[in-house]
Amino acid sequence: MNIPNLKEAKKRTNKEVETNYYESKYQNIVNNKKYFLKTYGCQMNEHDSENMKAILEEMGFEETENMENADLVLLNTCSIRENAHNKVFGMLGRAKHLKSTKIDLIVGIAGCMAQEEVVAQEILKKYKWMDFVLGTHNIEQLSELVYASLKKHELKIEAQSCEGKVIEGLPTTRNSKVKAFVNIMYGCDKFCTYCIVPYTRGKQRSRKPNDIIKEVEQLVKEGYQEVTLLGQNVNAYGKDLNINYTMTDLLVDVAKTNINRIRFVTSHPWDFTDDMIETIAKYENIMPSIHLPVQSGNNEILKLMGRRYTKEEYLTLFNKIKRKIPNVSITTDIIVGFPNENEEQFNDTLDLVNKCKFDLAFTFIFSKRVGTPAEKMQDTISIKEKEKRLYKLNELINKYALENNKKLLNKTVKVLVEGPSDKNDMLMGYTDTNKLVNLKGPNDIIGQIVDVKITNIKTWSLDGEYVK
Ligand code: SAH
Ligand code: SF4
Ligand code: F3S
Repeated sequence: MNIPNLKEAKKRTNKEVETNYYESKYQNIVNNKKYFLKTYGCQMNEHDSENMKAILEEMGFEETENMENADLVLLNTCSIRENAHNKVFGMLGRAKHLKSTKIDLIVGIAGCMAQEEVVAQEILKKYKWMDFVLGTHNIEQLSELVYASLKKHELKIEAQSCEGKVIEGLPTTRNSKVKAFVNIMYGCDKFCTYCIVPYTRGKQRSRKPNDIIKEVEQLVKEGYQEVTLLGQNVNAYGKDLNINYTMTDLLVDVAKTNINRIRFVTSHPWDFTDDMIETIAKYENIMPSIHLPVQSGNNEILKLMGRRYTKEEYLTLFNKIKRKIPNVSITTDIIVGFPNENEEQFNDTLDLVNKCKFDLAFTFIFSKRVGTPAEKMQDTISIKEKEKRLYKLNELINKYALENNKKLLNKTVKVLVEGPSDKNDMLMGYTDTNKLVNLKGPNDIIGQIVDVKITNIKTWSLDGEYVK
C-alpha cells in the first residue's frame, strides 16, 4: 500500500529527476476478458488513458464501450473541480451494483483523484469493496495491480505522493490515427492558489529532448499528421534539465521532423518569450493557435491567485502575439467567483474580454480544493451571484467567438480531416487555428489536410465544403 499524503505532495526538493524505462509484465495472461475505461480529465489524463489501454491490451484484455459487459472497470479521474468528484463517486455506485451480480468484476480508479489524501481515506472507509487505486506516479504498476486483483479481491492502494520520475517506453494505444498527444513534461511548480494539480502530478519534470524527438519521428513514419505537445506549463519546458535547452529549441527541433502540424498546451503567460513567438511565426508547421489562460482581469485577484502577472502584462503579451503571428487565434481559461471577488473586480475581467475578443474561452466557477491555499480563504459571495456572473461572462465570450468565426465565412481554409462527424453524413476536422469544421466531402480525404470553403458559421463550429 502507498497511500497519498498531502504534506508529501506539497514538498519540492532539488533532487534530480530519475528516468526509468518501462518493462511489460504479465503479457497475455487473460483470455476473453474485457475492460471498460472512462476518462474524466484534461488531455494529459486522456493520454494517460492511452497508456493504460495499451497496458491492459498487452495483458490480453479487449476494450468494451459498455460497462455492463466489462470484467474490469477503470475510471481515470480528475480533481480539478468538485463536480468531477461527484461524477466519479456516482459511477462507482453503479460499478458496485454491477459487482453484486458479477462477483469477479475488478474495479479500480486512476488519475488525479487517486492522488488525493481525502479521496483515499474515503475509499478506505466506504469503498473497501473496490480492487485498486492507482496514482499518477504509479501508472507502470497497472498490470501488477490487475494481476493481483485477478488472484484475490482486496483493496490495494498504490498512489505515492512524491515529486515523481519520468517513465519512458510506456506502450500506447492511440485514440486517433491522424493526431497524437506527446508529453513533453509532467507536473507543475506554479502552485496557483486555487489549483490542485501541483499536488496530484508532482514537480515539474521535462522529458529529455531526444526522447520527444524520437517519438515524433516515429509518429511521422506511422503517417500521423499532427502532434500536440503536452504539459501544464509547456513554455517552462527544459528549465529543470539544466542543459540550456528551451521550449523554443524544442519547437524548432519538432518542426524539423516535418510533421505537418504542431500544437502545444498549455502556455502560462509567465514564460512566454519573444523567441518563442518568433519561432511560432516562422515555422509553417507550428500552428497559429495559442491557449493562454488568463483566469482573471483584475490585478488583486490575479495576485491572490498567485498567477505572477498583471492584467497589463497579459494584454501586452496578448497584443504582441497578435501582432507577430499572422492570423493567430487565442483562447483562454477564466475563473469567476474566486473567494470574495467583488462586482468591480469581475467587471475588470469583462473589460479584459472586451479588449482581447478571444476566439474561445473555457469558463469556470471557482471550486474549493482540499489542501490548496484558496481553500482557507473566506468567501462571502453567494453561489447564485457567481452563477449570474458566469452567465454574463459566457454571453460575452460567445459573442466574440461568433464574431471571430464570421471572418471566415466564404473563405477557403486548410482543414485536417479526422473522420466522420456526429452530424449526418458529414466529416469533421480542425483548421490551423483549431476551429472545428463539419464538412461535406468524400471519405478518402480522412487523414489529409485539404482546402475547405466555409459556408456557414456558428458560435462553436463552422460548416464547410471540400474544395478539390
Ligand atoms: N496549467 C494550466 C491549467 C490547467 S487546469 C494553466 O495554468 O493555465 C485548467 C483550468 O481549470 C485552469 O486554467 C483554470 O481555469 C481551471 N481551474 C483550475 N483549478 C480550478 C478551481 N479550483 N476552480 C475552478 N476552476 C479551476
Ligand atoms: Fe494549476 Fe497554475 Fe500549475 Fe496551471 S500553472 S496547473 S493553474 S498550478
Ligand atoms: Fe484534472 Fe489532473 Fe488534468 S486534476 S485537469 S486530470 S492534471
